[in-house]
Amino acid sequence: MENAHGDPIDADVIDADVITQAPAGWHAAEQAAEHTAEHTCKHTCKHACDHAPDHGAAHPPEHPRERHARHGLIRTFHPRRGRASTTQADALTRLWPVYGYTIPDPHHDYHTPEAAPDTAFDREALFGRRAPLVLEIGCGMGEATAEMAAADPDRDYLGADVHTPGLGNLIALAEARGLKNVRVARGDVLFLLRDGIAPGSLAAVHIFFPDPWPKAKHRKRRIIQPDTVALIRDRLQVGGVVHCATDWAEYAEQMLEVLQADPRLRNRYAGYAPREAVGRPLTGYERRGLRDGRPIADLVFEKTAG
Ligand SMILES: C[S@@+](CC[C@H](N)C(=O)[O-])C[C@H]1O[C@@H](n2cnc3c(N)ncnc32)[C@H](O)[C@@H]1O
Repeated sequence: MENAHGDPIDADVIDADVITQAPAGWHAAEQAAEHTAEHTCKHTCKHACDHAPDHGAAHPPEHPRERHARHGLIRTFHPRRGRASTTQADALTRLWPVYGYTIPDPHHDYHTPEAAPDTAFDREALFGRRAPLVLEIGCGMGEATAEMAAADPDRDYLGADVHTPGLGNLIALAEARGLKNVRVARGDVLFLLRDGIAPGSLAAVHIFFPDPWPKAKHRKRRIIQPDTVALIRDRLQVGGVVHCATDWAEYAEQMLEVLQADPRLRNRYAGYAPREAVGRPLTGYERRGLRDGRPIADLVFEKTAG
């Protein structure tokens, strides 16, 4: 079994880590969602499931990827090993009600009231104001999100990821820096884009170092492909920007091709965007790419009036 970067991982270790190390204070939905799809459930069955191990429900015969496909979406992420630090766990426990939004997941059977998703997405309620909204897809540890939000207080920044410790990190950063314009969304951002965000309502979408899925058989799981780009473009306002970055040369070419092919997106630069022009802070995965000697490509496309 491999992660989205092609690194080998051990499914059993992921299970044990995610389930037993969930910090106190997370409610059942947090743990159930962390125990997400595409692992081998060692409690009762040998096939993949995305149910929490302790609710006693029958396991669905359908593979999680197939359920995603049934909902017309690809599954672009892999469950990640990692536990929350004390600071992250504390931020999640104390501040989730203010900063956090749980993306409803149409795959999930919510067996208990506390495991139900928060509510429908209401950006004004979440941020406490109406301001241009920047969505960061896969914000990871949130360092770039916090940095950009701090430099841009008139716009709101929503960092979305399935990786809860990273969201705890971003919440902790936001609190420490007194950032009022940062919030986090946990879950599959494609559901949020499709079901929670109105067409023409985003000022920008940032996708920094999305999972490269390097194996040919996994490439269909890359987030930058025609259908998801069309969805993102639809949710952008005219003049809104989709900004992608990657350290994977072949994915950069695919991004350029797919973004250029969208009839309502215009490249702000000739080819890749010059790094000094894009005003993007260094991200965690970017550091790793640079350390391994991979070149970085930025792409900035703007939605046209049509
Ligand atoms: C390679 S990491 C990059 C993190 C960060 N942007 C950085 O540069 O350090 C990609 C992140 O995207 C998240 N991700 C991928 N697909 C997602 C989806 N459909 N919904 C939410 N998060 C997703 C993964 O969980 C992972 O944290």
